This record gives sequence, C-alpha cells and structure tokens, in this order.
Amino acid sequence: MKIACTGRSRALGARIAEHLEAGLLETNLSRFPDGEIYLRTGPLDETTVVVGSLLSSDSLVELLLLIDACHRSEVLLVIPYLGYARQDREFRQGEPVSARAMAQALSHGVSQVVTVNVHKESVLSHFTVPASQVNLAPEVGDFIAGLGLENPLILAPDTGAAPFATGVASRGGWECDHLEKTRLSGEEVRVEPRKGGPWRGDVVLVDDIISTGATLAAAARMLRAQGAKGVHAVCVHGLFAGTALTLLHSAGISQIAASDTIEGPNSLYSAAGPIARALSR
Ligand code: R5P
Repeated sequence: MKIACTGRSRALGARIAEHLEAGLLETNLSRFPDGEIYLRTGPLDETTVVVGSLLSSDSLVELLLLIDACHRSEVLLVIPYLGYARQDREFRQGEPVSARAMAQALSHGVSQVVTVNVHKESVLSHFTVPASQVNLAPEVGDFIAGLGLENPLILAPDTGAAPFATGVASRGGWECDHLEKTRLSGEEVRVEPRKGGPWRGDVVLVDDIISTGATLAAAARMLRAQGAKGVHAVCVHGLFAGTALTLLHSAGISQIAASDTIEGPNSLYSAAGPIARALSR
C-alpha cells in the first residue's frame, strides 16, 4: 500500500502513512503553459490511498488526475475536507446540489471513500461507492484536555453542532450546551444569549467548520458581554476565509485551533489516527 497526497494535504498524508506504516507515492506536479495541471507518479503498489481535501477547483482537478494516474491499483480515497458539502440541496429552484455533483465525480475509479465530519451525513449517500466519515469529537476533547482549563463549558454555536459538542464534552466529563443562531447573510449571523445564563469560567466554542468566522465571533462577543472568563474556539475544518482570524481574535477568542484536514498555522491537532483506523477496518 502507498499513500498519494495532493499538494494541500501533504502533512496529513504523511501522518496517515506513518500510522499505517505505508510508503508515500512520489508525485510530481507542474503546470502546462496554459495553466492546466500535469502530474506524474512513481511506481504503484497494489493499493493506493489517495488523500486530498476538496478546497478549490484546482484541488478537485488534482484529485481527479491523481485517481486516474493510480488506476492500475485499487484506489481508496480519503477526502479530509469535503468542500461544497454545505450546498446539500436545491435551496432555490435552478441551483445544483453541489455536494452530489462532487460526490459523483469523485466516485469514479475508487473503491471506497473516507471523509471527516462531513457537514451532513446524508451527503455520503451521493457517492456511488461505499462512503463513510470519521468523527473527530474525541480528538477535539483530547486537545481541550491539553489546554488545562478548569471545568470549561463546551458550547456549540447552533443546534446543528450540538451533537458534536456533546461528543467533545463527554471526553472530559465537561458541561455542554448550545446556542441558537440565525444566519442573516453569508457573513452575518445573530446569536441569542445563552439560555442557561452567564458562564463566568472558560468557554470552548466547538463547530465543524470555521469559514468567515462570523458564527463564532458573534457567539464570543455575546459570551464576553455575559462575563465569560476566557473564550476559546476549536473546529474540525479551519477554512479561515478572508479576515476570519482577525475577526475571531478581535471578538475576544484567545485560542483558535483546527485539525489538519485543512493544513495551516492553526492546525493544532490531527485527523490522521482516526482516518488510519477507518482505512484499516
Ligand atoms: C454551519 O452550519 C456550520 O456548522 C458552521 O457553523 C458555519 O459553516 C460557520 O461559518 P462561518 O464561520 O462563516 O460563520
């Protein structure tokens, strides 16, 4: 077995290889003069684990090319961050179900798909091969335990993230709650004051995705106004679009952590262990 990674998932791919005691497939990537992507791999084994997050149009093309280049082996596909999953239905007539379009395109030539905390589980049914997800709630719990906070409140910013927060909190036996969020636009949200009243200690906001940061910034401002001692944020997929990090810091969030499903300076814990275990099953 060899692990093949796209350019944006190299660190995670190397960690998965380490867990599986597998080698890395040499992959050279360049561009044709017109901008098209060219890649070439080294010699294949019988099985290839292709690891690549879907973060942009280029990363989709890179994944499709890498899967095709590995067609002489059995290909297991790991999509650590499955972009386009939030458009999981036709909200308005004429829109695509983008999650379905991506899932179908990425099912060709692979025998199995593993992803991480997909926005909605129903998205997995769009793959035409067996697809599963791993849940990083235990890893988030372990990361929070390492912060050494005294009796933190684990708080989801909306009802959708409440089950995830429950899983995180159970790791440390911490108290858990969720807020009510109304999305006003892509970059604006309103968060209701916490029904359980002020929390004077440390609060850790947990969510699957941080994109613009608007959700957690609104939650943090409300918590600080209610007298929270410290507000921290841990997500699975740290997209940090535009000025998200500045927005989060200026809302009073001291620590912002994400996994390595999207690699960056805030990737402070890894999805490699759970992914490797899912591949071994
Ligand atoms: C929404 O349902 C998700 O769970 C996240 O809360 C959302 O994607 C975060 O987006 P943003 O950081 O732009 O508020």
